[in-house]
Amino acid sequence: MSRGPPLMLVLTCALAGILVGCDDMSDQPKYETYEDAPGFPQAQAARQPPAGTVARGALERERAKRHPPEVTQALLSRGQERYEIFCAPCHGLAGDADGMIVQRGFPAPPSYHTARLRSVSDRHIFNVISDGYGVMFPYGNRIAVRDRWSIVAYVRALQRARQMSATATVVPEAKEPGG
Ligand code: HEC
Repeated sequence: MSRGPPLMLVLTCALAGILVGCDDMSDQPKYETYEDAPGFPQAQAARQPPAGTVARGALERERAKRHPPEVTQALLSRGQERYEIFCAPCHGLAGDADGMIVQRGFPAPPSYHTARLRSVSDRHIFNVISDGYGVMFPYGNRIAVRDRWSIVAYVRALQRARQMSATATVVPEAKEPGG
């Protein structure tokens, strides 16, 4: 009847566990990324990427920036959804610059329904989203390239819808022939 050895084993393992647990795991014999590393070129642990290195996905993103996608109903729906998340809080649901953040005191953007913003290029709106404009923050790191184009298409749709309703109200009533 010997239950000793298993108990000893359990205790030994537990003690070993505690000792290992006390080690500082962040302090290991390794180089941090930009640590001095004598013996390496530039005496730094981080390697220089070979000349001509391109970050993964970068070429694709650059291509997508240059070539706007075809405007389809699906793209417009996506644009509306993204617009209402990222832009409407300031620019308002219809682009009149009356969003909640503006009502609470953020500087008011111009309405999209001004002659100047109706005449700017799609690329300008894309760049404003990507890089920001004046006091407006850049959204390039938060909105994917294709989604930025979808928002541009939706802003265009808002502008056109307003213009069409404006023209509809100034159409003179049709006269009765001979009346
Ligand atoms: C936090 C508020 C805010 C949000 C969110 C915001 N904007 Fe703006 N936007 C502004 C302000 C303020 C200006 C005016 C900036 C200035 O003239 O200094 C502006 C200006 C603009 C302009 C006009 C640029 C010009 O040529 O005058 C466009 C177009 C625009 N925003 C599009 C967008 C789109 C699209 C989104 C969503 C992706 C967006 N904005 C999100 C505040 C915002």
